[in-house]
Amino acid sequence: MHIQANQSLQPYNTFHIDVKTQYLVEISNQSDIPILRSDIKLASLPWFVLGDGSNVLFTHDIQGITVRCGYRKIRVMKEDNESVWLSVGAGISWHEFVRHTVENGYWGLENLALIPGTVGAAPVQNIGAYGAEARDTITRVQTLNLMTGERQEFRNADCQFGYRTSIFKQTYRNQLLVHRVTFKLKKLPFGHPDLTYEPLQAALSDIPKEALTPQKIFDAVVDIRKQRLPDPNVYGNAGSFFKNPIVSAEYFERLIEKFPQMPHHQLLDHTYKIPAGWLIEQAGWKGKRHGQAAVSEQHALVLINLGGATGEEILELAHMIQEDVNQKFGIYLEPEVTII
Ligand code: EPU
Repeated sequence: MHIQANQSLQPYNTFHIDVKTQYLVEISNQSDIPILRSDIKLASLPWFVLGDGSNVLFTHDIQGITVRCGYRKIRVMKEDNESVWLSVGAGISWHEFVRHTVENGYWGLENLALIPGTVGAAPVQNIGAYGAEARDTITRVQTLNLMTGERQEFRNADCQFGYRTSIFKQTYRNQLLVHRVTFKLKKLPFGHPDLTYEPLQAALSDIPKEALTPQKIFDAVVDIRKQRLPDPNVYGNAGSFFKNPIVSAEYFERLIEKFPQMPHHQLLDHTYKIPAGWLIEQAGWKGKRHGQAAVSEQHALVLINLGGATGEEILELAHMIQEDVNQKFGIYLEPEVTII
């Protein structure tokens, strides 16, 4: 266990916002929690769970304890001819773990390459990209109760996974710390590529489908993400700032009549998902600046820190976009990023 007092969180959030936390604590073992709770001062403060800070926007200092998971082991739990079950420490970097799986020839996570964040954040946020979501491969999530240290295990069906959400983000926010996540992945001859996302299919069109491997798809996804999304190490950002909005079939009909070029995707329940990036670009915000905050010129759904931006500045820009898109399209964009 590691405790630091009065620590800047700038190295711990991909927006690179300079806020402070009263205490920063890294928990590795179940027994760390009762030890911390036995300290009256620490026990009385609010506890706030942070991964790699790749999906948060800090707008003020944290009065309390910021908790990170330092457990980083990968264990093979079970294996048969076709599949492998890996139990993975929540503190490992997501991309490093995905790299480990493709290097071992396992299918399942290759479409989710280069997503910033930790393994622990994958079930919380049900991360997704290029047709895949974390919920497709997660079988179990082991958590630690931050009051008692008690273990609690969730099966996939208990996690209430939804579009960029789960029971850990809603009901148990800041109450449970994700400690280990189990993934079921397919071995090389038994898995198959998921090329439902058209630009990924196009990028791999030169390779016959039988010759595709997790590694080849991983490499293509890394290339696409590098081209399309701004690198948080250059300009701080947290990926998509807003969720893609979902509208009713009736409202969609009205919109498409007015904006026939509007990209869209029909969902199983006959509602429609509209790319927020398109709405923001059409509203004229791509590349626009507000103080040291800006809308990325590469991708309109990504807000960036040009250097030294405050969380408030980024939030003000987000509010201006929300208001304007609402006025122009009658759609209120919901943040995907957690605002603190
Ligand atoms: N678009 C524009 N202008 C832009 C950007 C996008 O018009 O500046 C339009 C284009 O029509 C494009 C469409 O939006 O075809 C969709 O764009 P993209 O394929 O980049 O995907 P997205 O819907 O913007 C979602 C996820 C991303 C994920 C990609 C790929 C959400 C909120 N975002 O973005 O996830 O990488 O699909 O699957 O669902 C993240 O969650 O942080 C994230 C980056």
